[in-house]
Amino acid sequence: MQSLTAVDFSYNNLSGEVPSTGQFGYFNATSFAGNAGLCGAFLSPCRSVGVATSALRSLSSTSKLLLVLGLLALSVVFAGAAVLKARSLKRSAEARAWRLTAFQRLDFAVDDVLDCLKEENVIGKGGSGIVYKGAMPGGAVVAVKRLPAIGRAGAAHDDYGFSAEIQTLGRIRHRHIVRLLGFAANRETNLLVYEYMPNGSLGEVLHGKKGGHLQWATRFKIAVEAAKGLCYLHHDCSPPILHRDVKSNNILLDADFEAHVADFGLAKFLRGNAGGSECMSAIAGSYGYIAPEYAYTLKVDEKSDVYSFGVVLLELIAGRKPVGEFGDGVDIVHWVRTVTGSSKEGVMKIADPRLSTVPLYELTHVFYVAMLCVAEQSVERPTMREVVQILADMPGSTSTTSIDVPLVIEPKEEDGGPEKKQQQQQEGPHDSPPQQDLLSI
Ligand SMILES: Nc1ncnc2c1ncn2[C@@H]1O[C@H](COP(=O)(O)OP(=O)(O)OP(=O)(O)O)[C@@H](O)[C@H]1O
Ligand SMILES: [Mg+2]
Repeated sequence: MQSLTAVDFSYNNLSGEVPSTGQFGYFNATSFAGNAGLCGAFLSPCRSVGVATSALRSLSSTSKLLLVLGLLALSVVFAGAAVLKARSLKRSAEARAWRLTAFQRLDFAVDDVLDCLKEENVIGKGGSGIVYKGAMPGGAVVAVKRLPAIGRAGAAHDDYGFSAEIQTLGRIRHRHIVRLLGFAANRETNLLVYEYMPNGSLGEVLHGKKGGHLQWATRFKIAVEAAKGLCYLHHDCSPPILHRDVKSNNILLDADFEAHVADFGLAKFLRGNAGGSECMSAIAGSYGYIAPEYAYTLKVDEKSDVYSFGVVLLELIAGRKPVGEFGDGVDIVHWVRTVTGSSKEGVMKIADPRLSTVPLYELTHVFYVAMLCVAEQSVERPTMREVVQILADMPGSTSTTSIDVPLVIEPKEEDGGPEKKQQQQQEGPHDSPPQQDLLSI
């Protein structure tokens, strides 16, 4: 039929779509005239197309708008789902890059630790990092300290022994030392997971609004417990561990106000050599707590921790911060020496006025220990083991101490003398110590 180029279907009442392919390409409209039911290429458009077009035309503009908005909403939903999926993939990729070292059986995973790192969970910020509180799925509550990675960028394995040190610290178990539960790290961050201490740090409690509630019995108990924690580090760990940043902010209080020594960020091991001291590469300790010998030797040993602990004892007695309240260049140690004349009898002049009742012999005894600890010469300071013993051997208690370290008692100036005037100038904002008649001696 390829030779057929003309045909006449006119006036046959035909219907349907006329194809446009093959020989139909040669025909024209006149070949199909008079067939109202026919449609196609050179005739009127076929009905179905006509219906769709007219249906679209018949849609109101409101419906068209709704249709467009619906399509838009659908695409937003799809885009959102895609973003969420991508985020969860990224998170799990990141989580895979974390390494978690557990120092005891943990009922949580690294993902649970990462979930704590939110702004609303921040409980403290220190010089070294941010601390977050976290509730673990198993019910445990932890404190997560976030530190930047230590070491040179690009030198993955050179962290100056930080990881090795953490491994050792994680093995420390003592009632008065905050327990390090785990350690998570990736290339940028170190996360130290500690047991959570609900009453925060001694520094915050003592110097915050609630300081007045910390009565003498609790302060004395905290002093003994913290001393036991430090004594353990110095004398029962092998090799011995220096804390290097003993301060009231690093003594944490549990739900029963029991003291736990915290934060071994600066702790390094004593070398096993006979000298027992080590050169410091960075500033050790916090302002107001640093032993005087550090300034000229840049060396620290256990006795530097003892000095810092003595400052904490003075804070407990006086309820004052170690620096900032006594004028330029005057810290709590100098202020106490000036005001009391380093005499046990002078302790009332520095006692925290917020203490309602204090057994004077206990106050005097703790003051005596504090002054031993802050002795200028490190050799004159007691060891932490001795500190624990002296603190426990309260005068009047049945046990006696075999340690006999004399407190240097300087002669007192006459009332109204120049030193007295200086004392009065340097007595800071709390100028009214507890009244004698409030003391139960
Ligand atoms: N295990 C913990 N439980 C409860 N709170 C904690 C814990 N560890 C730290 N904190 C809180 O976080 C605060 C900040 O601690 P962080 O150790 O970072 O700083 P700091 O001790 O004040 O100073 P530095 O950085 O010099 O040690 C603490 O004062 C304490 O309130
Ligand atoms: Mg700290």
